[in-house]
Amino acid sequence: MIVARTIPELRERRVDLPSPVGFVPTMGFLHEGHIALVHQAVEECAATVVSLFVNPTQFAPNEDLSNYPRNEARDLALLEAAGADLVFIPNAEEMYADNHETWVVVDRLTRRLEGTVRPTHFQGVATVVSQLFHIAEPQQAYFGQKDAQQVLVIERMVRDLHFPVALRVGATVREPDGLAMSSRNTYLSPEERQAAPVLRRSLDLAERLWLEGERDAERIRKEMTELVEQEPLARLDYLSIADAGTLEEIHVIDRKALVSLAVRIGKTRLIDNAVLPPGEPLLARRPA
Ligand code: PAJ
Repeated sequence: MIVARTIPELRERRVDLPSPVGFVPTMGFLHEGHIALVHQAVEECAATVVSLFVNPTQFAPNEDLSNYPRNEARDLALLEAAGADLVFIPNAEEMYADNHETWVVVDRLTRRLEGTVRPTHFQGVATVVSQLFHIAEPQQAYFGQKDAQQVLVIERMVRDLHFPVALRVGATVREPDGLAMSSRNTYLSPEERQAAPVLRRSLDLAERLWLEGERDAERIRKEMTELVEQEPLARLDYLSIADAGTLEEIHVIDRKALVSLAVRIGKTRLIDNAVLPPGEPLLARRPA
């Protein structure tokens, strides 16, 4: 496994890789959710590139950029074991010149859900992912459904800017009690950690109601909200049942829907989601 820290170094190594190249962008502090994406890339592609970069532009000034957990040595050991071929670990100066002025803005999709609370987040994500796509030039790129809106935003960017990249979506990897794995879970105190599975429980409730035939989105939102509010440590940021293509809120669940929520537990903000009908893929399959 080769480690490259500069763009020229990465490009030099990239030309030697056989096609198709799979790419897994991450912010490091890897857990089984990230590693599952790497395994999928290794399985499906001739070579796998992974990036570890805590992207400053997707954090707002009041967010956790400086505290974001890091452990490069451990990440490299996990990536080596998973079969990655090339790891890109740039620093912020490598990716953003002092006078960086160019941003990728995906318009309407990014104003919903996470965008209501984090208005500049997706501009940072779309910009860095487009930079990384230009640098790593993958044929396939792997993202987790855990960040469903991110998947939809990147899909739109890839389509609108004609990136020759096929997107693959990995299922959300969870702890045994249902909590979606996240680098931010390390912020939770033992007491908060006990409260955190409330997100998955509320999504289970939505799936159960849907399977019982409920199609009134407002009724499901209400029952989910009540469940979350029973957890004294949890504060709901938003809870949404939206059209899975446009992210517009819906009244009647008569099409593929994304149920998603963001919850604050102490100072930690957690997100999770589920697609209805249960088991439906987030992205429509495209002909190869
Ligand atoms: P990060 O949070 O490190 O996540 C990297 C990738 O792992 C993302 O595609 C994310 O959706 C996926 N992932 C995270 N937790 C997961 C889980 N429990 N199960 C499955 N997949 C999971 O997302 C980012 O970094 C950044 O925004 C990035 C795309 C790297 C741009 O900076």
